[in-house]
Amino acid sequence: MTEHNGRGTKEPSNEGSDPDGRTDLGPNGVPLSRDEAHRLAALDAIPLMDESTPLAAELANNARRRAALAGQTFPVPRETRIFTVANQKGGVGKTTTTVNLAAAMAMAGLRVLVIDNDPQGNASTALGVQHHSGVASTYDVLINDVPMHEVVQESADIPGLFCVPATIDLSGAEIELVSLVARENRLRNALHTYLRHREAQGLPRIDYVFVDCPPSLGLLTVNAFVTAAEVLIPIQCEYYALEGLGQLLNNINLIRGHLNPDLHVSTILLTMFDGRTNLAQQVAEEVREHFPDQTLRTAIPRSVRISEAPSYEQTVITYDGNSSGALAYREAAREIAHRGADTSASGPSVPVATSSHRSSHSEGVTHE
Ligand SMILES: Nc1ncnc2c1ncn2[C@@H]1O[C@H](COP(=O)(O)OP(=O)(O)OP(=O)(O)O)[C@@H](O)[C@H]1O
Ligand SMILES: [Mg+2]
Repeated sequence: MTEHNGRGTKEPSNEGSDPDGRTDLGPNGVPLSRDEAHRLAALDAIPLMDESTPLAAELANNARRRAALAGQTFPVPRETRIFTVANQKGGVGKTTTTVNLAAAMAMAGLRVLVIDNDPQGNASTALGVQHHSGVASTYDVLINDVPMHEVVQESADIPGLFCVPATIDLSGAEIELVSLVARENRLRNALHTYLRHREAQGLPRIDYVFVDCPPSLGLLTVNAFVTAAEVLIPIQCEYYALEGLGQLLNNINLIRGHLNPDLHVSTILLTMFDGRTNLAQQVAEEVREHFPDQTLRTAIPRSVRISEAPSYEQTVITYDGNSSGALAYREAAREIAHRGADTSASGPSVPVATSSHRSSHSEGVTHE
């Protein structure tokens, strides 16, 4: 619905008077200068929007969601929750999901570790941590037995968010792992040693770990499955979305049977959702039908801000925290935190980000 502001001024003319020589008058009867008359005429031309216009409705909705998130608390899990973010399909939003959930949780005061387990190093880029050739990385942890605490970097933008970066070296790891002892358990052993090291050093506990996987089911992904208890599968709301999912679930079953009895798919997140298309709606319905308990209520919309953020070496949470994409990831993070609380956690709640709260989490270093 379009309304006009009803100020009742008429089109201004040169020098504040029309060709008949009449002068425009303001609301109080005082003659208007030419500039003022132009300004009022321009304002008059702007339609006032109410919530029945799509843009205004979205803005109003975002404002409500922002307000809801601002008052919310995220529960602290009783134990460190370890997620592997996996889908052998490429480009479905694994990395985007990893870094944005991690950032949302860290901004909410939780302590989060991202392990970049993909030679592409996209998660390291988005988190703005160094990962050029020569930087100690996931490769060194997996292949050279370098302790994880020597490799971890803290995000400069978000205190409490840590990252094990990936460099291009990791592309050789699939082959090099084959001949190593305990090749499937190397990431798990390294992570558990790191968590114990923090405890021994008196450092605060990591609340969440997210392992970002490459788009394959090779040994790097197997290491991630052996490390985690929970699998998070991002599903892009597009044609072919469910293709290959059976194979992924079979692999998870095999790992559970042979290497990691705790492994289960706890979370499915719909990504790049465009509610205007029937296809996206159908895919979402189908996924929810197959995985009613695992699929988050929150779906991540297709968003330009989400796709722009990595080119600034940022997550969308820091790049534009009030955009609809950032709000969706913050809501998804809140949902995950609360779901975990239902099953495993009963720790105290921490309030959603205030700067003083966040800074109390900082250990004040970029390298540990
Ligand atoms: N919700 C979204 N809206 C718009 N663009 C998105 C969204 N989510 C992800 N993208 C973009 O889609 C592309 C693929 O996303 P991403 O890298 O997260 O997928 P991936 O599954 O990690 O890919 P890969 O399999 O190569 O590791 C990226 O360019 C990313 O910026
Ligand atoms: Mg990726």
